[in-house]
Parts: sequence; structure tokens; C-alpha cells
Amino acid sequence: MKNRKLLMIPGPTPVLRSIQDEMGRETVAFGDSEFVADFQQLVNDLKELWSCDGMAFVVAASGTFAMEMALVNNLKRGDALLIVSNGFFGDRFIEIAKKKGYVYDVLSAPWGQVVSPEQIAKQLKNKKYDAVTVTHVDTSTGAVAPVHDIGQVMKDYPETIYIVDGVCSVAGEPVDMKKDHIDVLFSGSQKAFGVAPGLALLWAGKKSLERRDMLPEVIEYYADYKKWAPIMDDTKKYFATPAVNMTWAMKKSVDIIKEEGLENRYARHRKNAGAMRAALEAMGFTILADPSCRAVTLSNPLYPEGVEDLAFRTELEKQGVQVAGGLGEYAGKMFRIGHMGNVDEHELAATVCAMEKTLKKLVPGYEVGKGITAFLKYLCS
Ligand SMILES: Cc1ncc(COP(=O)(O)O)c(C=O)c1O
Repeated sequence: MKNRKLLMIPGPTPVLRSIQDEMGRETVAFGDSEFVADFQQLVNDLKELWSCDGMAFVVAASGTFAMEMALVNNLKRGDALLIVSNGFFGDRFIEIAKKKGYVYDVLSAPWGQVVSPEQIAKQLKNKKYDAVTVTHVDTSTGAVAPVHDIGQVMKDYPETIYIVDGVCSVAGEPVDMKKDHIDVLFSGSQKAFGVAPGLALLWAGKKSLERRDMLPEVIEYYADYKKWAPIMDDTKKYFATPAVNMTWAMKKSVDIIKEEGLENRYARHRKNAGAMRAALEAMGFTILADPSCRAVTLSNPLYPEGVEDLAFRTELEKQGVQVAGGLGEYAGKMFRIGHMGNVDEHELAATVCAMEKTLKKLVPGYEVGKGITAFLKYLCS
């Protein structure tokens, strides 16, 4: 019998059986009264959980679509955008901004570090921006931006829309639109929600909805708040066919989050991340992100001398665990491992053991046990 393949990449993350069951249900009409009620409940719960004073949107798409949706409903061609980038996904806003004709500036940090609230405050003092984007956790580096402290800066700029990319953070890292003064937050189903890929989630605060009202016609059709708002207000209505089974799966994920409680969920993520990092360091890896800004949703370990990327990931996969390769200039030097969503301690322990078996095969003289000991010590401390 072969080992089960554990999906430890930073999204999609493992999907619980109870969530999978929702995807496997017999599909019903999107006008079915039970589905309409479930969809409405989901939208309402999302709004409440992340303290949104406007509207939550659930749309069939991936996280990149949510990035676009966030920008096009808050900016028009020629508007000024400040992009705060801590890596690959922060830089993706640059590509979108170019295509949309925004006038943009970029504040960026070396990979593994984050732009500070002070740097942002200085930039905002010098120039007026219509919006600022911040990537909460950049999946390319495993660094977490201080979105709360940045929000304390943003609240002094009521004319500027504060947009947070929470694709790799929401439901794992603490974030709250009200406390953090965020106007637009977005995410995807496949990361810390532990649902399969396929849904974009976007929370638009009141200020962002008002900005949309002030914009001239938005040329994007599927991304326009105005097309989706009537549906999110009353899920009986139709604009474009909702992903019925994915919506159920998403609702199940949110039910699980409500049952666990957000604070408990954040604490679990912190603990699991600490244990995984202790194991990685004990096995000889170095974590890319600076200790002052390490995300709890994933880790990006650099290989020790003598461990080759492809050989490591290929052998690890034979041992039943999939991780992702490094991006950009870290391709070949680092791998990326997710520890978010509904991943439990059993899965993390099995992952550490598979890594130890892999290192035993690849590194002459490697003694197994260092990683799992550090993991257990952390969890039991
Ligand atoms: C922080 C961040 N933003 C945006 C995206 C893009 O999301 P998607 O791949 O679902 O389009 C990703 C994907 O990993 C991400 O990690």
C-alpha cells in the first residue's frame, strides 16, 4: 500500500472530508431555496467575521481576479496608486497597474523583510494617493506585513483606499477590517480556508462602495461591484451562475471557523508554525523571513549546503509529501511549505518525518530524529 500524498504546498491546502462532501453533493438549481439560504448565510458570516461595514462578495474565480476586482472598483485610469510590495505577489499589482493605466509608485522591501508603516507614512505625506495596496502575507517570501500598524497610518488619509491582499492570510493570520482600518480585503478559497481552489472572496467596506459610486463607468463586466452587489444583497437574484457546490464547501469551511473561533484558529496557526519552524531549523534549514515578520500560514526554508532542490522535492514526494519550489531569484535555493487552514498536528508530524527520511537519503551521515524531536518539544512546551 502506498502512503497518502500530503498536500503541503501553500495553497491549495488539504481539504477536510466534511468540506469535500459538500463539493460532492448533488448539485441543485442556484434558485433552490435551501441553496439561496446557505449562500446568504455565507455572505453574512463573512461580513461579520472580518468586521466589514460594506459588502462581502463571493465570486467564482481565483485570487488574481480578486486583485483586479479590488483595483478596478476603486481606481480609474490615471489615478495614483501606491503599491507596497514585499515580494512576487506584491509585484503582481505592478503588472495590473500598468495594464489599467494607473499612475503608480512602488515601495518595496528585500525578500524576507517588509516595508515599515513609517516608510508608508513618509510616502503618503509627500504625495496624495487614491489607493494603497499591501500584500498581507507574500507567499513568495513567507513574510507578514504589519497591516494593523499600517492601518493606523491609513486612518489619517480618508481619501485613500486601503487595499489588503489577504489571499495567503485570511482565516490564518489575524486581520480585522474595522480594527485595521482596511477598506478592501480579499482572499481565495484554497489557502487558509481549506477549500479547493475556485472562489474569490472580497470584502468591500463602505468607503470602497462609495468610491465605486463616484467612479465613471467601470469597463470590466464580471469584476464590477455593481453587477454583483444585488446578488450578495439578495442571493435569490441572478447575475452569473454561482458555483453552487463550491459555495456549499465555502459555507462548511466558515461553519468550521465559527465553531473553532477566530482567536483559537489564530492561536493554532501560531503554534503549528512555531513547531514546524523549530523542526526545519533543527534539520538544518534557514527560514528566509526575518524573525520579526514571519507569517504563520507558511514557511520558506532555504536549503542547507549540499541539498539540491529538485532532488529534495522529488524524494519528498516519493515519501508522500508535496511542497512547492521557491519563486524568483530563490528558485532552486528554497522551498515553500504551507501550514495553514485545516492542517492538523498529525499531518505536520508526518511531514516532518517524511522530510527526515528524505534528508537521510540525500545527506551522507544525516541522523534522523532531530526534526521530529524539535517539533514535539515545541508542541509540548
Ligand atoms: C498573496 C497572494 N496573492 C495573490 C495570489 C494569486 O492567487 P491565485 O493564484 O488564486 O490567482 C496568490 C497565490 O498564491 C498569493 O499568494
